Amino acid sequence: MSRIKEDVYWVGYLDWGLRNFHGYSTPHGSTYNAYLIDDELPVLVDTVKYYGFQDLLEGIRRITDPSRIKYIISNHTEMDHSGSIERLLQFCPEAEIVCSSKGKEGLLKHFKKNWKFKVVGAGDSLNLGKRKLTFLPVPMVHWPDSMLTYSSYDKILFSNDAFGQHYACSRRFAKEAGIDIIFREAAKYYANIVMPYGSQVEKALDSLSSLDVDMICPSHGLIWKEKQNINKIINLYRKWAGHSADKKAVIIYDTMWNSTKKISDKLFRLLHNDHGIDTAVIDLSTTHISEAVTAVMESRIVLIGSPVLNNGVFPSVGKFLIYLKGLKPKNKLGMAFGSYGWNIFAFKELENFMKDCGIEILGEGKYFNYIPSDEDLSSLAHPVRDLAESL
Ligand code: FEO
Repeated sequence: MSRIKEDVYWVGYLDWGLRNFHGYSTPHGSTYNAYLIDDELPVLVDTVKYYGFQDLLEGIRRITDPSRIKYIISNHTEMDHSGSIERLLQFCPEAEIVCSSKGKEGLLKHFKKNWKFKVVGAGDSLNLGKRKLTFLPVPMVHWPDSMLTYSSYDKILFSNDAFGQHYACSRRFAKEAGIDIIFREAAKYYANIVMPYGSQVEKALDSLSSLDVDMICPSHGLIWKEKQNINKIINLYRKWAGHSADKKAVIIYDTMWNSTKKISDKLFRLLHNDHGIDTAVIDLSTTHISEAVTAVMESRIVLIGSPVLNNGVFPSVGKFLIYLKGLKPKNKLGMAFGSYGWNIFAFKELENFMKDCGIEILGEGKYFNYIPSDEDLSSLAHPVRDLAESL
């Protein structure tokens, strides 16, 4: 339990050991943030994953008797936030579940229980005593049910998954935890969870622009407090939602006998040393795909390399591309490269995958038989120059 403002408390769960969040690597763990507002009618904003329930209950008990809770706001049905509602209701059986109409549908389908629902829509409000909460539905940021809750009294936006990060920490405010790493984790969170919904994010940001916000309290990770950090994360969300990338390049590959790595190494030297382009290199045999998609989001140029195995794209590269396709990146320029033994036509599959991922292929792919010669590697200079000029 931590006090974050007068009568507003964090009562969430720190999931220190989490290393995988439905396929997304979480090397720093995560948190499921629930917030208790101790007004005349106490309200809990979101709950926690089922196995964090005891921490949630103990946190609430440090502040008040759970039976006083009048409302449980469910901003989003996904079970990292709704997973403790059922057990909590045993301690506050009269509490009403406040959610969007899609939220009610989702909760009914998940838990099969006809709780006391209070369905709210855009601009609806809830009087707690001193405070009045208002609700902003943000459908598809990132589920159909998603909504935000705003307390004008506290100037707090309870933003649920939006502006979150997977980062377990005993501190509660982003600046206290090390602001640079929290912005990095926020970028990774956006790339892996929110990226497909850019136009919906833009609409949500428009609807937030009139609110006076001193604090953004997300449902994962650290709270944004200082004005400059609040403005920065909102501006980053605008940039990411618009699929605007920096003049950066990323080379993503896997290799069987080092040939595709040799091509990657040469591409890096050309991009970085000859053209001065900020370039990242990701080896899919050692780097998780959720890191790779973050680099894609932040780069205008995306080069993808694969060896041919069994007449097709190498499995790790195929897995990455399937994941990337679902996240719908836009405005990328790229080139395919790789090494083959006897079937150069397999690279058609790689190029088609890349096009499906929203990557515009510039020029012809560079594919070399078995081991690239010095001459082969020198031939990369021409397409790299075209890519650099396109920036
Ligand atoms: Fe943190 Fe979409 O759940």
